Amino acid sequence: DQAKKKYLENLYQINREAAFFYMKNLSREKGPLLYLENRGVGRETILKYGLGYAPLRKKDLCEHLLSLGYKLNEIEDCNLVFINQTSGEASDRFKNRIIFPIINSRGRVIGFGGRQFNSDYGPKYLNSRDTPIFHKGNNLYGLNIIQQKKNRDRIILVEGYMDVIALGSVGIYDAVASLGTALTKDQGQLLKKYGQEVFVCYDGDEAGIRATKRAINILFSVGIKAKIICLKDGMDPDDFIKSHGPDAFELEVKRAKDAIEYLIEDLKKNFTLDSAEGKIGFLKEVSKLLRGVQSPVERDIYIDQVSRNYQISRESLKAEIESGQAKKN
Ligand code: UTP
Ligand code: MN
Ligand code: MN
Ligand code: MN
Ligand code: MN
Repeated sequence: DQAKKKYLENLYQINREAAFFYMKNLSREKGPLLYLENRGVGRETILKYGLGYAPLRKKDLCEHLLSLGYKLNEIEDCNLVFINQTSGEASDRFKNRIIFPIINSRGRVIGFGGRQFNSDYGPKYLNSRDTPIFHKGNNLYGLNIIQQKKNRDRIILVEGYMDVIALGSVGIYDAVASLGTALTKDQGQLLKKYGQEVFVCYDGDEAGIRATKRAINILFSVGIKAKIICLKDGMDPDDFIKSHGPDAFELEVKRAKDAIEYLIEDLKKNFTLDSAEGKIGFLKEVSKLLRGVQSPVERDIYIDQVSRNYQISRESLKAEIESGQAKKN
C-alpha cells in the first residue's frame, strides 16, 4: 500500500517534469509558437494553460527524465514512451506536437494531449491513454482553471482543448472539455459538482450534433437539465470567438435552448409537417419524448408549448403521452 502510494506519486512527478520539459521547449521553438500566435493564443494564455512543445527527435523527453533519475518502466507507465518489443529501444509518444497538459482539480498533471501543427503524421490530436493516474472517462479538460473561480453559477461543456483555451483567452473561464470521447456518466457527475447550470456547446457540425444528443441523455441520467448552445455554420466555440467575439458568444449563451426544446426542434427535421402523415409522425415522437419528462409541472409546460406551436389540442397530446405509458406497463 505504501509502495503503491509511492509509485503513483512518482507517476505524478514524472508528468510534472514532462510538462515543464514541454513548456521549456515551446519557449525556444519558432514554428509551434508561430502556429499558436496565428490561432490567437498569446504568451499569457500559453503560460496559463501550461502549453508546450514535444520535440521531433526520437527520445528527448525520455532521456531528460532518465537523467533526472526516473525509472524507465515508470515513464512507460505514464504513457510518455513506448518501448520497441524487439529492439528494446525507447521512443517518446509525443513527437513534434503542441502539448496540452491535462491537469486535475488538485492541480496535478495527469495526462497530455498533443496537436500536430506542421505535418499530417498520425491523428490530429494524440492523447495519453489511460494510465494508473489518468482515466479519461472521469476527467474533464480545464477543471484546474474552473477551480480558480469561486462563484461557478454556470459551466460550459465544449469538445476540444482549443475551445476551452479560446474562451479562456477572452476571459470566459467557465468552460471544460470532455476530452474527445463521448461524455460519460462520471463526467456528468463532475459537471454537476462544478456548475449550477450546464451549457452544452459542442461543435455545430454533424458529429457535434450527434454528440450533443448523447450528452443530453447522459446529463438527464445524472439529474442535470442542460441548456444547449447551437453555433451556426458548423462552427466550434473557438471558431465562433474568432469570428464574432466574446459578446456575441454571451448572447448565444443567453439564447441557449433547454434540452427538451432542443430535442423537439431536432425531431422536426425528420418530418414534413405540412402533411397530415408527417405531423402525426412528429407528434407521436414528441409524445414519446415528453413521456420521459418526470416532473408533471415541466411536462405540462412543454405540452403547452407544443400545443401552441403545432396547433394540436393539449388534450389529445396528453392522451397520446398517456396511451404510450399504459402500453409500457
Ligand atoms: P476537433 O477536431 O473539433 O478539435 O475535435 P478542435 O479542438 O476543434 O481542434 P482544432 O481547432 O482543429 O485544433 C475535438 C476534440 O476531440 C479530440 C480532441 O480532444 C479535440 O480537442 N480529438 C480530435 C482527438 O482526440 N483526436 C483527434 O484526432 C481529433
Ligand atoms: Mn469536431
Ligand atoms: Mn472543434
Ligand atoms: Mn476542428
Ligand atoms: Mn476547433
